[in-house]
Amino acid sequence: MNTTSLIAAFVVLISGLIWVGMDSNNADWTGNRNQCVGDCYEQWKTDNAGGIAEMEQVKQMALAAASPAALGEQYYGQCIACHGGRGEGGIGPMLAGQTAADIVAKLTAYRAGQERGAQSALMYPVAKPMSDNDLDNLAAFISSL
Ligand code: HEC
Repeated sequence: MNTTSLIAAFVVLISGLIWVGMDSNNADWTGNRNQCVGDCYEQWKTDNAGGIAEMEQVKQMALAAASPAALGEQYYGQCIACHGGRGEGGIGPMLAGQTAADIVAKLTAYRAGQERGAQSALMYPVAKPMSDNDLDNLAAFISSL
């Protein structure tokens, strides 16, 4: 076999690989959903009750309609590490069993930078960004624990 036919065989082989590669990169085979444009996207919108903007809007409306306790539960995600998943306490004191009014009062104090216990400094950055709504939502959830 001479060099020319080796090169020819090589070219044929590479062309074949490229062809197979391109042919097999279709959505049916790869499940590639990143290529959903044009008709595909129109179909996707129909299947999913609108485009991405509409879906986001629906999500926001659901969030706005959610109960205070449900919103509080969501916010409580960032408290679990210190107060436990069920408010049983850990690094921070036990929260379960406290009334909503107690929780609001205590969080309001931390938010204002008031010292309550020896470790209040741990709560200042947590409470600082809370809105009044956040306080009410958290209290609604925590008082149900
Ligand atoms: C980094 C750990 C940490 C995180 C995160 C944290 N806390 Fe605390 N929390 C503490 C500590 C420590 C105390 C006790 C502070 C003191 O000495 O005044 C406390 C105290 C409290 C108290 C007062 C309890 C009582 O009976 O005196 C409330 C209410 C509270 N936290 C709510 C929350 C909520 C709600 C979140 C989440 C949004 C949260 N904490 C996140 C550590 C944490």
